[in-house]
Amino acid sequence: MSEITNKRTSKPVKSIAVLTSGGDAPGMNAALRAVVRSALKHGLEVFFVNDGYKGLVEGDIHPVIDRNFVKDIINRGGTIIQSGRLPEFAKLEVQKKAVLQLKRRNIDSLIAIGGDGTYRGLLALSKLGVHCIGIPGTIDNDIASTDFTIGFDTCLNTICDCVDKIRDTSSSHQRCSLIEVMGRHCGDLAVFSGIAEGVEAVITYDYRIPEEEFINDLRELEKKKKHHAIILISENLLDINELAAKINRETGFECKTEVLGRLQRGGKPSAFDRILASKLGNHAVETLIQGRYCRVTGIIANEVRDIDIDEALAMPRDRKENLTRLLDILR
Ligand code: F6P
Repeated sequence: MSEITNKRTSKPVKSIAVLTSGGDAPGMNAALRAVVRSALKHGLEVFFVNDGYKGLVEGDIHPVIDRNFVKDIINRGGTIIQSGRLPEFAKLEVQKKAVLQLKRRNIDSLIAIGGDGTYRGLLALSKLGVHCIGIPGTIDNDIASTDFTIGFDTCLNTICDCVDKIRDTSSSHQRCSLIEVMGRHCGDLAVFSGIAEGVEAVITYDYRIPEEEFINDLRELEKKKKHHAIILISENLLDINELAAKINRETGFECKTEVLGRLQRGGKPSAFDRILASKLGNHAVETLIQGRYCRVTGIIANEVRDIDIDEALAMPRDRKENLTRLLDILR
């Protein structure tokens, strides 16, 4: 339990600021919409912050006049209030500047939509007296305290769409396609899309078939009358061009590499992400109103929950369902 501000208080929340931080994710706008609409419904004063923590420190904070501020955004990718990363926010003097900006405007609470870096920022601000709530928004699904982050489902569908297309050309030329997907240090995007696409191999930080083994598997494919192959690999892991050269040398396949890159972050949010964002955005506001601070929202076993930020940050990732066994059986 946090020893900080997770206490019920007699002082009710009056005004909140909302920001998006870290890599943008489809569904952030839907979460922003839910926060704004829910807060206005509860009679709170609402402010938006441009550019994430940078805007907070610089005072790029503006009142939301009415509910129309978030009209027609539920289906839009990216974030209309911009996002960014601010490594300097780890410094106390920078955090204090942010608190001052909030105090100047009589804002007592902050809701931030982002990943674990965003949560660490909220934890620091909580220690300085701001009532904070985090909403998990990142394509990576690398937050242990929620089964799914906002943006993950859309990104997964985008990857599947790309792999379907690559498969068409890969099979027409009897090639092996080595496709790099995002996820920072989390393999969920690779593993989930690997299952959804029925690929030949998946390589992530936590799930690495020894190289010789999968090279051998590729050699064996010919015997199984499979003349093309798809391999998904998480980013930041190894040099995919070197691996492709090895596949070219040691198997009968011609191997081509594809890096999907930032197109994975764009596009309209899926219905799942819009609904998840709407639930978590509303829950964030209700959590504040009920006087629970320094919390993050999430979905666990299909139930909306909120837990202490420090507890969330300390949660082991292996809490979540591990799908690699299924990958092993079905490949
Ligand atoms: O966290 C989302 C993410 O897209 C990661 O998958 C990726 O490693 C990173 O952001 C890239 O960030 P940027 O666009 O700032 O280079």
